[in-house]
Amino acid sequence: MLSKNIEQLLQDQVKKEASSSQTYLAMACWADTKGFEGAANFLYSHSDEEREHMLKLIKFLNERGSQATVPALDAPKKDFSSLMEVFKSLLEHEIIVTASINSIITACLQENDHLTNNFMQWYMTEQMEEEQLAQSIIGKLEMIGSDTSSLYLFDKELAGLAGAGN
Ligand code: FEO
Repeated sequence: MLSKNIEQLLQDQVKKEASSSQTYLAMACWADTKGFEGAANFLYSHSDEEREHMLKLIKFLNERGSQATVPALDAPKKDFSSLMEVFKSLLEHEIIVTASINSIITACLQENDHLTNNFMQWYMTEQMEEEQLAQSIIGKLEMIGSDTSSLYLFDKELAGLAGAGN
């Protein structure tokens, strides 16, 4: 059985992962309609991954004697000024998620909940990879600057990075 505190933290995390999935889906829609096909593929795939993260938590809650609640979500932001804004916002979002996972692990250690701690380690590794990937995409976009032909080529490259943070 999970403690009430850990149960609530995991439930809050379900909402954060669901919100990540919706946020990246809205970014994918923006990219898809602005001619950034590669970025759109990357973001569609990233949105799917976040849904998997949410499902993994839901199943863990259900298997540990709780019943997961499917959360209501606010509509995500749908308009962006550039790919740079999209990926900076994605990175900011991931940093918040990482902090949240870190707090869950801290609570698990305080409560000697080694099983949940062990379960959450997978998320920590995943966050590290996602942050690194977003950071490297932002770095490349900075190098590209206003060079549209390089941006066109990088967009194609982004399609190949879909699932790379997995
Ligand atoms: Fe599952 Fe990227 O947070």
